[in-house]
Amino acid sequence: MKRKNNFKRIVASIFFYIGAFSLLTMACATEPQIKVQHLGNEQSMIQIPNPKKYILLPIEDSMGDSKITVIVDNQEVQTLFVRLAREKVDYVVPLDVSMYQDKGVALNISSIEDSALCWREIKMTDSFDITNRETDYRPLFHFSPNYGWMNDPNGMVYKEGEYHLFYQYNPYGSTWGNMHWGHAVTRDLINWEQLPVAIAPDILGAIFSGSAVVDFNNSAGFGKDAIIAFYTSAGERQTQSIAYSLDNGRTFSKYSMNPVLTADIPDFRDPKVFWHEETNRWIMIIASGQVMDIFSSKNLKEWTFESSFGEGQGVHDGVWECPDLIKLPIEGTNKSKWVLICNINPGGPFGGSATQYFVGDFDGKVFTNDSPKEVKWMDYGRDHYATVTWSNAPDNRHIAIAWMSNWDYANVVPTNQFRNAMSVTRDLRLFEKEGAIYLKSTPSPELLALRSESRQLDSFDVNMDYNIDALLDNNQGSFEIEVEFENNDAEIIGFRLFNELGEEVNCFYSLIDNEFSMSRSKSGKIDFSDKFASVTTTPLVNKDSLSLRIIVDKASIELFGNEGEFAMTNTVFPNKPYNRINFYTKGGTYSVSSFIIYKLAK
Ligand code: FRU
Repeated sequence: MKRKNNFKRIVASIFFYIGAFSLLTMACATEPQIKVQHLGNEQSMIQIPNPKKYILLPIEDSMGDSKITVIVDNQEVQTLFVRLAREKVDYVVPLDVSMYQDKGVALNISSIEDSALCWREIKMTDSFDITNRETDYRPLFHFSPNYGWMNDPNGMVYKEGEYHLFYQYNPYGSTWGNMHWGHAVTRDLINWEQLPVAIAPDILGAIFSGSAVVDFNNSAGFGKDAIIAFYTSAGERQTQSIAYSLDNGRTFSKYSMNPVLTADIPDFRDPKVFWHEETNRWIMIIASGQVMDIFSSKNLKEWTFESSFGEGQGVHDGVWECPDLIKLPIEGTNKSKWVLICNINPGGPFGGSATQYFVGDFDGKVFTNDSPKEVKWMDYGRDHYATVTWSNAPDNRHIAIAWMSNWDYANVVPTNQFRNAMSVTRDLRLFEKEGAIYLKSTPSPELLALRSESRQLDSFDVNMDYNIDALLDNNQGSFEIEVEFENNDAEIIGFRLFNELGEEVNCFYSLIDNEFSMSRSKSGKIDFSDKFASVTTTPLVNKDSLSLRIIVDKASIELFGNEGEFAMTNTVFPNKPYNRINFYTKGGTYSVSSFIIYKLAK
């Protein structure tokens, strides 16, 4: 009996010590480990003699920025602006200090009260969890960063089977700021490999948008086939800098004599560089206030001003940004034309950001617009911006990608682990209609590989309403619809894509006005910004044929009409995937001559 009791006591104390030990280790693991000293005047100092790899910074998106200066060995090594949490933590971001682990690190933090919540929440860790938390709105095949903010696509260049996508990136929050070039590559335009940040801010400024080329003839002297990136150093003024990579974009070195191009105006940015075969030199087109300036160079370092394009042409209700200049074939002919792509914000046809373009000629010095009076938009949606094309793309392809958002609300869309995605890649060419030349953009053929199970319907007439109650089994919100209409005498051919909650995207052709429209005013979450609910409308170039290809990926709808003669891209935030469709008509009847829906899967 006694022995039994003793045994019980021993077992109990073993459990007690194990329990106490694990509580202690848990306490140590969750202990802040970080000593904060408040210095008054909303300034604080953190000193960490033995940091782990990352310092986790707690973020509250609606707060103002605090400035963090990272100090190593009494020297400032990095400055960042972070919306540190005052009252609640929306999410955390990692500050990588692994390179200072042997020296220790101090953070000098200003513009934040001593009572803020962040002081209890700043932690250290050796790993950062990037598991996706945005299950509703994380796209399946569109590129989005694992975490943090993204805007413009940058530096797209193809080399040795890889399409590089760099992008405007904030690793320290899901709102705009601390601009870096993030980096991803794809071999098939649908699977993206996320790579470490490529270019980080420096004393010349943040790293704004730009382009990259493969220096096939070693013009710059950094090495044959170096990838050379051109970006705007956004400091007090905007200047142009270069960085080069000798390892296929995995690491970049900044040129020691940056900047390579300056100007005396405040808005001077987003250099796009390309090789001009006919004159045997490099050309840079750059946004300069409300015009695009063109420069030329033999060595990619010294640039000569050639001309300026844009005064009195196109829309000028905002700043001109992110230019591109490309030569495209005209379908069905052996002719080609130059297209100048001009992103503008604000001033888009439905407010905020959009991409206009001009068709004309370029002789290596001057771009001349064929139709100075006409305004042409590349995409008639709200969420298609900063569009530029890949350099060095194979098979003479011209592949574009756009930022699928709008400065009107990009900072407040209802996600928080990451904010904003890119469009699908689109192949560009031109087509001629009644003497005018327009851009045609169609999803890159690689996207067809996403199509999995499909459902096809026999043709049917629409006299009143025609409903399809369940489009796909187990619809996860990534699908594609191809539909063709034949009009009889309808004035409106319409359809609503909707979910079981009644949230809908309403699309309609007006045969009276020759327009196609999409309304997302009841599409789901809309009230995060009073600018989000909207109806977008495109004029129809070709009035005789009505066919649509609609690509939906969780939080976006990209619609291509008549084989890409018009495009319309709008983001949506439904609370459930749209899985029903209602066709309706006004003023007469029409038929749906073909309808097929594909589940999209990787
Ligand atoms: C366009 C833009 C560019 C600039 C970048 C900054 O969206 O304003 O002109 O380089 O974003 O992030």
